[in-house]
Amino acid sequence: MEKQILSVVDSRTNDRYEFPIENGAIRASDLRQIRSGADDFGLMSFDPAFLNTASCRSAITFIDGDKGILRYRGYPIERLAEKCTFLEVAYLILYGELPTELQLKNFVAGVTHHTMLHEKTKNFLEGFNHDAHPMGMFISTVAALSTVYPDARRVLDPESRELQIRRLIGKVPTIAAYAYRHSLGYPYIYPDDELSYTENFMNMLWRMVEPKYRANPVLARALDILFILHADHEQNCSTNVMRAVGSSQADPFVCTAAAASALSGPLHGGANEEVLKMLDEIGSKDNVRGYIEKVKAGHGKLMGFGHRIYKNYDPRARIIKWAADQVFVATGRNPKLDIALELEKIALEDEYFIKRKLYPNVDFYSGIIYQALGFKPEMFTVLFAIPRTVGWLAQWQELIQDPEQKIARPRQLYTGYDAREFVPIEKRAIRAAASR
Ligand code: CMC
Repeated sequence: MEKQILSVVDSRTNDRYEFPIENGAIRASDLRQIRSGADDFGLMSFDPAFLNTASCRSAITFIDGDKGILRYRGYPIERLAEKCTFLEVAYLILYGELPTELQLKNFVAGVTHHTMLHEKTKNFLEGFNHDAHPMGMFISTVAALSTVYPDARRVLDPESRELQIRRLIGKVPTIAAYAYRHSLGYPYIYPDDELSYTENFMNMLWRMVEPKYRANPVLARALDILFILHADHEQNCSTNVMRAVGSSQADPFVCTAAAASALSGPLHGGANEEVLKMLDEIGSKDNVRGYIEKVKAGHGKLMGFGHRIYKNYDPRARIIKWAADQVFVATGRNPKLDIALELEKIALEDEYFIKRKLYPNVDFYSGIIYQALGFKPEMFTVLFAIPRTVGWLAQWQELIQDPEQKIARPRQLYTGYDAREFVPIEKRAIRAAASR
């Protein structure tokens, strides 16, 4: 194929530059050749919030936001949600291919082997207030695992990485379930190796005095599908954090805790909790139109709507709507669904949302299912973090193995003072607080 070139003329100097275009991108560091004079550091690109900057090459997840397409390792999300279990998809995301039966059996056994928490970690969880937010407990406990497994610091050792990946995927449901039971004041339930990943999670959440927990298969499958849908989503805010922290060669436990912290924000994974608060605030279908008018007038956002990449229907939201119907057969219909459907209908016909291409995202309907399953809204983001741990770890592996990656260290455009004379304390006057 003919080499693609971008030609640029710098109007300051009339110098002409040529930059190779690869995969639809130029290298931002090539711009440094563009200088207005000998003292010039070279041209930078300015891109707050990475609106148009690719920070890595990745072969894991593909999204076409205009067409509403999401694929893991080339497989459409719809097929995977229909045909696979969560751990099968986890294997695909981590290793690039769907597993054979034997590979899956070994992987499941490897993950299951690591579901227990050290008793000291359990004690650590007991130190939280009864009303601590489960996401805070989750983040802190994942970080605390770094102290239990100091060998995780050997991030350049592939065998160690493999072990930590299995430990993390095995333990995150246990941490989540313990955080949930802690908030209810219930005793912790130990993992049951005979159950599937999702059934075991349900066992640790909901088993009371029965000798063996039997999960409702419809609910277990719905949760498994939700886990599949949330497993990875290319370079979103938390994945970017995973990569940024991982680029310093910090261990994967603290990297995952940092990524989960990013996830907890209301503009990211915390949106599912906010959607339920919003639906509560709206209260009934009759109030939907008024609420939308308030949003359009600049009072808050429609939570669970909009996406940096999707400018079409989020394919995950479509599957979640389908899963919700299955769940409601078993649990009864969540009345919030009617408000949500009305909100979606009115918003999708409204010029404000059409013009800005704002569609429901994954968080719009997931909370309604989680609530029907019996979770309080504070648990919703933790339910997102469990499967996303797989995506974070796959992206972390890819980063560590990528010879082009270095420590993440963006540039800035300095807008502060030039060098100033130091003022001794007795001569200082109160100045207007400067945020510069
Ligand atoms: N409700 C009302 N207006 C919105 C919304 C919304 N949910 N989202 C974006 N807009 C408007 C925004 O005000 C802006 O309008 P204008 O051009 O007049 O200034 C325009 O749409 C473009 O929005 P933006 O803020 O530049 O878009 P972004 O790509 O920076 O932000 C987003 C993406 C997801 C943070 C944002 O859409 C949002 O805050 N949504 C609500 C929170 C949410 O549901 N987050 C979950 C995202 S999906 C799952 C995940 O990542 O965890």
